[in-house]
Amino acid sequence: MNTPSTPLPGGTWDLGELSVSRFGYGAMQLAGPGVMGPPTDRDAALAVLRAAVDLGITHIDTAGAYGPRFTNQLIREALHPYPPELHLVTKVGADRDRNGGWPPAREPEDLRRAVHENLDDLGLDVLDLVNLRLGDAQGPRPGSLAAPLAALVELQQQGLIRHLGVSNATAEQVAEARAMAPIVCVQNMYNLAHRRDDELIDELAGQGVAYVPFFPLGGFSPLQSSSLSAVADRLDATPMSVALAWLLRRSPNILLIPGTSSRAHLRENAAGAGLRLSTEDLAELDGIGR
Ligand SMILES: NC(=O)c1ccc[n+]([C@@H]2O[C@H](COP(=O)([O-])OP(=O)(O)OC[C@H]3O[C@@H](n4cnc5c(N)ncnc54)[C@H](OP(=O)(O)O)[C@@H]3O)[C@@H](O)[C@H]2O)c1
Repeated sequence: MNTPSTPLPGGTWDLGELSVSRFGYGAMQLAGPGVMGPPTDRDAALAVLRAAVDLGITHIDTAGAYGPRFTNQLIREALHPYPPELHLVTKVGADRDRNGGWPPAREPEDLRRAVHENLDDLGLDVLDLVNLRLGDAQGPRPGSLAAPLAALVELQQQGLIRHLGVSNATAEQVAEARAMAPIVCVQNMYNLAHRRDDELIDELAGQGVAYVPFFPLGGFSPLQSSSLSAVADRLDATPMSVALAWLLRRSPNILLIPGTSSRAHLRENAAGAGLRLSTEDLAELDGIGR
């Protein structure tokens, strides 16, 4: 691993015994259109992954469902053998259908298959962290996660998984999971404009559990808000930088995994997340999602 010339904003966080940069990278945008198929520009995708590691990023978020499988195979091609500091976090619990949909796949057999596919595609003997992805593309759905989580705990006991997390989960499901097994992170949708998990974030912070917001920049529809634009203009920064810097400030347990298929955006985001926000900026931004 290269020694980055500038430290990443936010410092580090411990997922169990695994130290990761709070500024991480989400690999979903590397697959083809609609997160299906191989990337349009394969060399560019490989270069983004290598640039992430060169920047000092030690947390890459992925899933077998991206591509499906292409994204994990790209990660392996770009970065294997992995530097010891790098931790790959994957998700299981959703498949892909012919229309690009994300049908749930949470039967024990689906989860076993998904874990083995992730191991094969990433070229690993053990997965550092596996998130059980719940709900559906519209968001979390209530209901017990006991059966699918028990299947993952069994795979963990077999030595195939180091740590477990949950994703797209309700607060009740997070509590149920934490009563069953040590859970090191929750990965849910959250950003300046979507703040349903405010209480959950604070609760998890108090218990030393990471919260990893997906769609930190709004996902497929970029964040748009006049307050966000006003703060960005005042600071001569992009709205993306402000949104990421706000998340880092929001709570120490928040880990960033902004997605991009562009090296320029990756570098811009890494620098921008270090933007200093004044009390006045924070108060104005705080009003957006409330
Ligand atoms: N657990 C789950 O259910 C779940 C669901 C969704 C996502 N995720 C994870 O969360 C990660 C982040 O989510 P995401 O990638 O969907 O959404 P995101 O990070 O909110 O936004 C990504 C979008 O922003 C654009 N972008 C990034 N930086 C930019 C910049 N500096 N200037 C202009 N545009 C910029 C990207 O386009 P370019 O490619 O052009 O930069 C892309 O279209 C994913 O990669 C994935 O790992 C998890």
